Amino acid sequence: MIVGVLGAGQLARMIALAGYPLGVDFIFLDPSADACANTLGEHLLGDYNDPRLLAELAERADVVTYEFENVPADVAEFLAAHTQVHPSPNALAVAQDRLVEKAFFHDLDIPTPAYAAVDSFESLEQAMPAIGWPAILKSRTQGYDGKGQSVLKSADDLKAAWELLEGAPAVVEAFVPFDREVSIIAVRNVSGSIVFYPLSENLHRGGILRVSESREGDAMQTQAEAYVSRLMEALDYVGVLALELFEIEGKLIANEFAPRVHNSGHWTIEGAETSQFENHLRAILDLPLGATAAVGKSAMVNFIGNLPSTKEVLGIPQAHLHLYKKSPRKGRKVAHATVRADNSEKLSGLIKALTTLADQVDDS
Ligand SMILES: Nc1ncnc2c1ncn2[C@@H]1O[C@H](COP(=O)(O)OP(=O)(O)OP(=O)(O)O)[C@@H](O)[C@H]1O
Ligand SMILES: [Mg+2]
Repeated sequence: MIVGVLGAGQLARMIALAGYPLGVDFIFLDPSADACANTLGEHLLGDYNDPRLLAELAERADVVTYEFENVPADVAEFLAAHTQVHPSPNALAVAQDRLVEKAFFHDLDIPTPAYAAVDSFESLEQAMPAIGWPAILKSRTQGYDGKGQSVLKSADDLKAAWELLEGAPAVVEAFVPFDREVSIIAVRNVSGSIVFYPLSENLHRGGILRVSESREGDAMQTQAEAYVSRLMEALDYVGVLALELFEIEGKLIANEFAPRVHNSGHWTIEGAETSQFENHLRAILDLPLGATAAVGKSAMVNFIGNLPSTKEVLGIPQAHLHLYKKSPRKGRKVAHATVRADNSEKLSGLIKALTTLADQVDDS
């Protein structure tokens, strides 16, 4: 079996690492010569819309998937006309445009923050009375790790926030004073069965995910499962999907979804019976899905900006280090580590030890 992957970053790398035991081979398409999955399969080096490379990928891959949702949706559509593509190009098209995504949630009765489309400075000014303060202005497309976003605290912030977008269409949304951020990772197979991982509880700083913890038996699990099922069924989705949610006063509000494996699910590599990466492959290859139960309590800590010392991380006997082989750069996710424990107190101590190391290298 050959799986084609659009993108060859760390998510592609971890998909490939999960595919090796299943005897799967990989071809990656990525425009960057030093993309970090490139030693784990064949690397087609070029633009996502290079017709020659796309034709080769379509010809040779049994199924194509993506690790990155900002590939042009028409690229996925072209591939889908020639080979199997999972998740569907439609899921990609919805997820890559925040306005379309929010309307999609709305149609499915999944609550979102109050929002409005913004395509000029005037439309931003006009939207604010209904949205209220504080708010967040986000570019409709191409955002990740909080890029292309500005917090609006008062009318004084509007001009600079609008100018930062350089004319790109945007959405403005109410800032949610959430109690917690959680995400649910679910997997749907070709015949429509869905399995769910225990919720992840997520901590962000500066728009970047820092820590995720597995939360088996969380009070919000059932509500999150209902929303993610609705979403997957409406998209006739195949593969792993992550739905990011805000919890406020015992209710969940959707932030966004990712049509791919997700950073808040990295704990599943050591902390669940089957990792999100293996289950994504199982789903897109039409194989039986693996059990999603948590194995103990676990957490993941991201290393951002600079590499941690391998010796120091591994000096914590329970830690599992995942280096992405990416060159360090400000604000860039370059590695993560997971820890597992049989009770919350032990887990907190291990998280503390890892976050101390993460803060030492963090330059964001
Ligand atoms: N409406 C909001 N209210 C409160 N916090 C918000 C809101 N929107 C975003 N945030 C904060 O900023 C983080 C990043 O926002 P969002 O998920 O929209 O961006 P992103 O660039 O797609 O990020 P990523 O790719 O890392 O998921 C959120 O996880 C949350 O912590
Ligand atoms: Mg997000």
